[in-house]
Amino acid sequence: MKLYCGKDYKEMSRIAANIISAQVVLKPDCVLGLATGSTPVGTYEKLVERYKEGDLDFSQVTSVNLDEYKGLSGDNDQSYRYFMNKNLFDHVNIDKNRTYVPDGLEPDSDKASREYDEIIESVGGVDLQLLGIGHNGHIGFNEPADEFCRGTHCVDLAASTIEANKRFFEKEEDVPRQAYTMGIGTIMRARKILLLASGEDKAEIIARALTGPVTPKVPASILQFHNDVTVVCDEAAFSKMKF
Ligand code: GLP
Repeated sequence: MKLYCGKDYKEMSRIAANIISAQVVLKPDCVLGLATGSTPVGTYEKLVERYKEGDLDFSQVTSVNLDEYKGLSGDNDQSYRYFMNKNLFDHVNIDKNRTYVPDGLEPDSDKASREYDEIIESVGGVDLQLLGIGHNGHIGFNEPADEFCRGTHCVDLAASTIEANKRFFEKEEDVPRQAYTMGIGTIMRARKILLLASGEDKAEIIARALTGPVTPKVPASILQFHNDVTVVCDEAAFSKMKF
């Protein structure tokens, strides 16, 4: 596991964008696994900047996103499809037909999950998977559970996740109660993983996930078993790590 510590959010974002840029330069037709949430916003801004400066070309890149709220259409400004368009896809030369997000409007969870796993397989798997982390250790929307889930599935969101994500919605009642997410198995099959965290509120969970026991009660702890993980945090998020 490689650890990079940026001074603050801005520096964390710059380091993360450097790593993603290197992936795109070295393998222009790579498959990027992308994430939402507030943490990667600065990274996406940097990638857009580099594209505009002429240093990055996304024309051959394919992307698969980690998760999507069940019941939200891509036009809904709270959907993760909308987030991706707004923060990255609308500003770079990626072919939108090759950007995949689980279909939040598919009511049949088994069908939505099966189809998404087929897409990931058909594009050849993920080269670099970007991840944020929830306060309870969730990655994608893989909430703490009794066992690790393999493939894409529908999850009931934890009360703490609904609470954390309500800041993006008008009212707490508007936060969807379910989501589709890639499974831990899918995430672990990515050839490289890039985990980001920023802020003191993530310090405790970062220390538990990276140095505590590997358990489905802290889903991100499984990353200790992956052989190519890079963690980029700011000083605040690394402040409880015991080296
Ligand atoms: C959401 C997303 C995760 C994200 C997490 C942390 O629940 N599904 O992919 O990593 O929240 O979000 P933030 O980066 O806003 O703290």
